[in-house]
Amino acid sequence: MAEDQPGRWRARFDALLRVDGTQGDSRSLLFASLRASGYGAVGAAYGILALYTLPLVLLTGALAVLGVGRPLVAPMMQWVRIVAGLERRRLRRLGHDVESPYTGPIAEPPRSLKEARTDPSARRDLLWTVLHGTWGLILGAILLQMPFIAVRDVTYPLWWYFAPESEQQILNGLLTAQSANTAILGCATGIAVFALWLLFGPKILGLQARPGVNLLGPDPEVDLSERVARLTATRAAALDAHAVELRRIERALHDGAQNRLVAVNVLIGAARREVTRSPERADEILERAQTTVEESLAELRAVVRSILPPVLEDRGLAGALSALASDCAVPCTVQVDVEGRCPASVEATAYFVVAESLTNVAKHSRATYASVVVIRRWNTLRVVVADDGRGGADAEGGSGLAGIARRVEALDGTVVVSSPEGGPTEIRVELPCGS
Ligand SMILES: Nc1ncnc2c1ncn2[C@@H]1O[C@H](COP(=O)(O)OP(=O)(O)OP(=O)(O)O)[C@@H](O)[C@H]1O
Ligand SMILES: [Mg+2]
Repeated sequence: MAEDQPGRWRARFDALLRVDGTQGDSRSLLFASLRASGYGAVGAAYGILALYTLPLVLLTGALAVLGVGRPLVAPMMQWVRIVAGLERRRLRRLGHDVESPYTGPIAEPPRSLKEARTDPSARRDLLWTVLHGTWGLILGAILLQMPFIAVRDVTYPLWWYFAPESEQQILNGLLTAQSANTAILGCATGIAVFALWLLFGPKILGLQARPGVNLLGPDPEVDLSERVARLTATRAAALDAHAVELRRIERALHDGAQNRLVAVNVLIGAARREVTRSPERADEILERAQTTVEESLAELRAVVRSILPPVLEDRGLAGALSALASDCAVPCTVQVDVEGRCPASVEATAYFVVAESLTNVAKHSRATYASVVVIRRWNTLRVVVADDGRGGADAEGGSGLAGIARRVEALDGTVVVSSPEGGPTEIRVELPCGS
């Protein structure tokens, strides 16, 4: 029974640490509490932003009701989104999986009160602003002050005598302590605050984060129906991409290796007929047949490589992309910031995106310089291929860009092509790559 006690406390402490998403690696209470105070202070700063945002929202709402504030609604809602976006980043750093609901076609902020009222994400952002500007700010201030109060009170007996009368207080000014006996009390209150900070710091941070975790992600109901629609579309795109890929492989085999093997068959027949009549002629024909077999082998190898490039397996994404860049006719830099490996389908798609984009750079752009940047952040792999060429890339103009879009959509990703006439061109692809 006695042996179980430390284990129980340990489990409790672990549970406390896990409240703010700290897992496994940060087992130290002190570290967890320092971390809680640091993040709590950042949360408090966002709380101040949220608090100042509240009267502006009310004012904008009132002006909009009176009919003069309508143009202010969109910038106001955009500002609310920015503040909520800061909090989302903080929550993700704390280990919470809070995706922004503002992607795809609903990226524009509401432009009227009616739109704001009917937009569930805007409503949730506003509710978060209220909660974080009050509750979140208070909890952040507590988290920030606790270690300072602890240090101040514990050391109070050493310096209280020299402090001005107005400063002779402990517990953040709650108690006046102007004698040696009461100064000693400072030690006790300091230790108590320190213990509370150690025990409850991460928990308080968890409470501060809770409204954001619950409100700043996509609305579960909207998210689900949107996701079903998106999955239906991407499933169709995946099947399409699959069919296109099969057709490409079939064409490559049919037009390449198969034709050559037919020629080899004809050549061997001719050689057999010549063997007795003219052995030299037969030898000549066999030599041609051998060359044709070698060519068809090379073609088969190329087709196999285009299905899943072995270079990816051998050298990883960074190595494979560097190899692509060094083969590019335009000078090209590659920057890959990806820890570990992504799923094979994601790496293969990233590889094909870069391969097609660099082929386009060499074929169409007249650029002097190209760059490839691949970054993995959280569960998203971002691939950006840019060039300083003449621009004007258009998916209608061929099958390459459309093929990129199909492959990316099949993985639930997004493609944005920015290529104004006169350049520059940037192809930005984001692929989900769940850890
Ligand atoms: N980096 C670029 N700079 C300028 N124009 C581009 C660039 N990439 C593509 N384009 C333009 O967009 C069109 C479409 O490109 P896409 O890759 O879809 O087709 P393609 O390269 O012409 O043919 P393929 O089907 O062989 O890829 C091209 O014909 C070209 O005019
Ligand atoms: Mg192309």
